[in-house]
Amino acid sequence: MRLDKPEVLSALAAALLGVLTTGGYWLGSLALETPFNLFIALGLLIGVALLGFFFTRFIIHQFIYAKVKLIYKNIHELKLGSDEEEDLIARTSDLSMVEREVSEWAEMRNTEIRELKEREAFRREFIGNVSHELKTPIFNIQGYILTLMDGALEDPKINRKYLARANRSVDRMINLVQDMDMLNKLESGVMDLRKQTFDIVKTSKDVFEMLEHKAKDKSIALKFKKDYDKPFKVEGDPRRIEQVIANLVVNAIKYGKEKGHVEIGIFDMDDKYLIEIADNGMGIPENDVPRIFERFYRVDKSRSRDVGGSGLGLAIVKHIIDSHKQTINVRSTSGIGSTFSFTLKKAK
Ligand SMILES: Nc1ncnc2c1ncn2[C@@H]1O[C@H](COP(=O)(O)OP(=O)(O)OP(=O)(O)O)[C@@H](O)[C@H]1O
Ligand SMILES: [Mg+2]
Repeated sequence: MRLDKPEVLSALAAALLGVLTTGGYWLGSLALETPFNLFIALGLLIGVALLGFFFTRFIIHQFIYAKVKLIYKNIHELKLGSDEEEDLIARTSDLSMVEREVSEWAEMRNTEIRELKEREAFRREFIGNVSHELKTPIFNIQGYILTLMDGALEDPKINRKYLARANRSVDRMINLVQDMDMLNKLESGVMDLRKQTFDIVKTSKDVFEMLEHKAKDKSIALKFKKDYDKPFKVEGDPRRIEQVIANLVVNAIKYGKEKGHVEIGIFDMDDKYLIEIADNGMGIPENDVPRIFERFYRVDKSRSRDVGGSGLGLAIVKHIIDSHKQTINVRSTSGIGSTFSFTLKKAK
């Protein structure tokens, strides 16, 4: 028998009271040597038990359940209608159910608090990263302006050079803001994908063409794994996928070695194509690989700063691939090179 209903508790208390009173009557009649009347004894037992039952039930309801109900009501934040009130009274009269619901509620609140704390830490880190990234170009610009104001403006040998340098810092800030804007749009789902059927070979060739001069600066060869002479038709947003490939190829060049290569391979995988961008550059240390797609994450902060990255490129890439419901992976060995691969659905 479970002792978590007020009726059960009251019945037990009433039975105990009845038995004690009848016992008292019996002991009293023994002590006073008066005759023991069975009818009186039965009457006492039933009368006291009944009275006791209603009395204890009243006490429990009045003093304990009223409080439990109040707590329970607060937890559920219920605005009670009369039907709901009845439902609540029925539920609060089963204490084990109240206990279960309250612990479920507590667990839910704990999870909520944990999530809020994580979000708060993330927000703080994000603001820290953004201000850190903006600081360098802003101070650079200020430095050039101050020098120009201090007289360099009149010096034809350096005034244009300083303006051009200040402009490079402005470019860097614009890139950063554009990247953050893009991430924000991707995350809030504002940016719709314009899905079409397109040829991934053609997109890759366009990217190579666009980045040829960058590769030339480091004598890096941009090539395909095979001669892809027929089109590979895929489904997706061609502009976004072009952005993915461009980001990966720019990285492969930036972190590639002089006279190295960047190679694109396309592999048939049932209903998908796997697109690989491989380089033979500096690679990524094993410990950094799992974090490489996080925003602002860079392997070597000082080194990447020289090549002008803010660490948002791969976060954007990952978002775009995720929003296509596809996957992206990286294999890399420090000092040997990196291979980024992602999938795309074949066009029907
Ligand atoms: N192909 C690669 N080879 C070696 N390291 C890489 C490669 N691609 C990315 N990384 C490492 O991953 C980090 C994050 O890359 P990501 O593209 O997100 O940022 P970034 O290139 O530094 O800056 P951004 O792309 O925003 O201009 C880089 O800083 C670099 O350390
Ligand atoms: Mg990058």
